[in-house]
Amino acid sequence: MKTKVALIVIGLWLGAGWTPGALAADAGSGKAVYEKSCVGCHGADGKGNAAMAKVLGEKGLNIVGKNTQAKKDADLLKVIVDGAGKMPAQKSLSKDERKQVLGHVRSLAK
Ligand code: HEC
Repeated sequence: MKTKVALIVIGLWLGAGWTPGALAADAGSGKAVYEKSCVGCHGADGKGNAAMAKVLGEKGLNIVGKNTQAKKDADLLKVIVDGAGKMPAQKSLSKDERKQVLGHVRSLAK
């Protein structure tokens, strides 16, 4: 009997913990995707991770500059999906995630 109660309590706890977490992830998923897949190279502020810029010998890691922001969504989405130069293709992102992550990049540039 005690085990049953404990299982129910754990079940409720997991259920309660999971739902708001999933909703929160949905609302901020552009940011979540960015933090998971992009921060390592582009940095949390989008200006580029300095250490990574050295490793890659790359100047293209700042994606919040005027040059990048002047480009069309379609062009930037293409880079995100297909990659470019040393930027790896991000094929595992769903259509929605690509748009959300681009939205996050645009919001960093403001
Ligand atoms: C391994 C490092 C790396 C990772 C991870 C990475 N990028 Fe990049 N990204 C680059 C490099 C290098 C470039 C410049 C490519 C070039 O030569 O044009 C670039 C270019 C871009 C550009 C185009 C900039 C422009 O002006 O054309 C966008 C947008 C971009 N990245 C977004 C992202 C997003 C969003 C993610 C995560 C989903 C991501 N990148 C993950 C290295 C990376």
